[in-house]
Amino acid sequence: MEFLDQPISNYAEAHTTSESQLLTSLNRDTHSNVLAPRMLSGHLQGRVLSLFSKMKQPKAILEVGTYTGYAALCLAEGLAPGGVLHTIDIDEELETRIKHYFDQSPYASQMHLHIGNALDIIPNLDTEFDLIFLDADKDNYSAYYDLLIDKLPQGAIIIADNVLWSGKVVNEHQLANDKDTKALDLFNKKVYADERVENILMPIRDGLMVIRKK
Ligand SMILES: C[S@@+](CC[C@H](N)C(=O)[O-])C[C@H]1O[C@@H](n2cnc3c(N)ncnc32)[C@H](O)[C@@H]1O
Repeated sequence: MEFLDQPISNYAEAHTTSESQLLTSLNRDTHSNVLAPRMLSGHLQGRVLSLFSKMKQPKAILEVGTYTGYAALCLAEGLAPGGVLHTIDIDEELETRIKHYFDQSPYASQMHLHIGNALDIIPNLDTEFDLIFLDADKDNYSAYYDLLIDKLPQGAIIIADNVLWSGKVVNEHQLANDKDTKALDLFNKKVYADERVENILMPIRDGLMVIRKK
């Protein structure tokens, strides 16, 4: 869901640096051939992720929830020379398509795809991540945060997607009855109350929680 009026949203996209040809192809292919294409970050959010990554120049990026690889390709644009990106998805049916697009990226040799449950894979990654994008199952955001936060260096950035959940986080009925809405609200409150970090909830697209470890 977009929180801006459609004309404003269109205007913002029209005045934002274009995505690469590779990202346009992946975007189109995903919309034509893959279930649930609204999961893909898309042009505006993709440029936001790319810019954050270029500002941070991370040595090691972790993405939780690859889908078809759009956001991973955007995040990789900011990698420091010799840096690595690890991305995890539980859906093995996505693997061939993800690899097809990763192989065409200038960052292909720095990108590592893991297929499996992120809750099992994260504890086995022996890497000090300095940029993390959380975008998998919403009811595990708090678990991913807990698994990672103590291992991150000072200044590390976590970006969590969909934290407004189409506005359901301010709807009392959804908060009481929908498990993902409840989980995201608890995650937002947990981050806000955590003295180890500073954070901004940015109302971009479906809500990006941007967190910096102090
Ligand atoms: C919103 S999509 C990711 C979109 C992608 N980050 C992008 O912006 O283009 C969420 C993905 O998380 C994956 N996922 C869900 N639960 C997972 C888990 N426990 N471990 C790993 N991946 C999971 C799904 O298979 C799905 O592809």
